[in-house]
Amino acid sequence: MIKPFGASIYHLFVLIKHLKITTMSTMKNNFKDQDHLYSSWSFSKLMAFFFLLISISYLFYSLRFVSHSFDCDQTPHIPTITHRISSNTPSEEESTPPFEEVTNISHIVFGIGASAKLWKQRKEYIKLWWRPNEMRGVVWLEQKVKAEPQDENFLPPLRISSDTSRFKYKNPKGHRSAIRISRIVSETLRLGMEDVRWFVMGDDDTVFVAENLVKVLQKYDHNQFYYIGSSSESHLQNIYFSYNMAYGGGGFAISYPLAVALEKMQDRCIQRYPGLYGSDDRIQACMAELGVPLTKEKGFHQFDVYGNLLGLLAAHPVTPLVSLHHLDVVEPIFPNVSRVQALKRLKGPMKLDPAGLIQQSICYDKARTWTISVSWGYAVQIFRGTFSAREMEMPARTFLNWYKRADYTAYPFNTRPVSRHVCQKPFVYYLSKAVYDEGANETASQYVRVQQNPDCKWKMEDPTQIKVVEVYKKPDPHLWDKAPRRNCCRVRRTKKKGTMVIDVGECREDEVVEL
Ligand SMILES: *[C@@H]1O[C@H](CO)[C@@H](O)[C@H](O)[C@H]1NC(C)=O
Ligand SMILES: *[C@@H]1O[C@H](CO)[C@@H](O)[C@H](O)[C@H]1NC(C)=O
Ligand SMILES: *[C@@H]1O[C@H](CO)[C@@H](O)[C@H](O)[C@H]1NC(C)=O
Repeated sequence: MIKPFGASIYHLFVLIKHLKITTMSTMKNNFKDQDHLYSSWSFSKLMAFFFLLISISYLFYSLRFVSHSFDCDQTPHIPTITHRISSNTPSEEESTPPFEEVTNISHIVFGIGASAKLWKQRKEYIKLWWRPNEMRGVVWLEQKVKAEPQDENFLPPLRISSDTSRFKYKNPKGHRSAIRISRIVSETLRLGMEDVRWFVMGDDDTVFVAENLVKVLQKYDHNQFYYIGSSSESHLQNIYFSYNMAYGGGGFAISYPLAVALEKMQDRCIQRYPGLYGSDDRIQACMAELGVPLTKEKGFHQFDVYGNLLGLLAAHPVTPLVSLHHLDVVEPIFPNVSRVQALKRLKGPMKLDPAGLIQQSICYDKARTWTISVSWGYAVQIFRGTFSAREMEMPARTFLNWYKRADYTAYPFNTRPVSRHVCQKPFVYYLSKAVYDEGANETASQYVRVQQNPDCKWKMEDPTQIKVVEVYKKPDPHLWDKAPRRNCCRVRRTKKKGTMVIDVGECREDEVVEL
């Protein structure tokens, strides 16, 4: 920052002018009071001297500033640095690491925190995403559970966490199992598995989308310190715990060298925070001591909400869906089926095109003035009338706040209300099946309406006539290798009665969401 010399001189002039006026006005006032003339006169002199002193110091200050600016202009140190860099370059080239393959699923080791009490139900969630022959990881329990022989082939190996009774736990609301669970990172590291790049933590009710997890981790250098995850959907939770914390249920990833650094200090670190509530805030406290910030990836979902996830999922941020959590707390993601059955249905599209799973696209049926929002592999919504893209990409509040008394907008992202008007209620079509046509290299997914919509008296065409929505989309394994952009959708002309046909794919040149 260079302050011109002229400006300082100008300030000095203003100051002197101001000084003159002040002294004169002081004198004028004092003439009225003859008795105090002498003392006032010396007072004025004192004031003048005082201002002169200030002016001189100001002048010196300005000059110092100007000479300092000269130093900046000359920048005598920079050439030295440049020189050092250039002299170092050859040796750095020599030590370039050999070409490394990109991260794949076998580089990840999962550490799942589970409890014996809930194991019978919760293991069903793990079975949904666990691939025994491809994945590595361990489920950590506090005590032995009854082994079911058929489970062995569908679940990670089970282990019992080491004793943590020597650690202090002083949170009145939480449970001391938090200490055990936060030590899973270190305990998994100590197993000494080879070729590990990332440790990924999750709960027994976390469901991961493996391909997308890999895709996200590929962006980061596993040889450096990374702590990757996401915050809560509840603003209050983030205030009570931390916006800098990766929520454990949503899952988080710790790079190998960071896990090594953590393991060395974690037990000491845990003792310093006996008052914390959970396992994930204990991890965050140690991360703060290590100076490693949270790298936020919005595809990890803690889902600290109640009710219907439709609003959140249908307007998923433009980033790969990595995890789902609190599936016991929210309603099943598809209506009229059990929670596990609903998630099983999602596995169909997950297999065909994981990158595109749940991703939103927005388009209009121009002839009928409907707005259409596709959440690929999950749901299609038809709205009467035209909603802008910026409204449609905002989650509708179909879900409830984690804190029931909280402000209904207390989310760390924008949300929109669910319309109360009968005519503005969306027609929701849920995935019923998804197949892949190899010849066309295209997926065909079908969505049907389960819930009835109320009667509406608008003259506009009525989506009630649409019973089925068919969506065609090419799988796009490279979607996340490109800059993030929502896919585009187009309503296809069709003669099929009661059916709407939609194409989803990369936007064409100049294609925008406009009516
Ligand atoms: C993952 O990469 C390693 C090399 O680091 C390779 O040996 C292995 O076969 C790859 N695994 C898969 C499943 O692609
Ligand atoms: C789904 O459940 C609702 C209420 O629970 C019921 O009214 C509706 O008929 C069910 N739909 C189907 C397709 O089973
Ligand atoms: C299918 O299409 C996608 C997108 O154009 C392409 O990336 C992929 O390689 C294709 N797959 C096959 C099997 O042709």
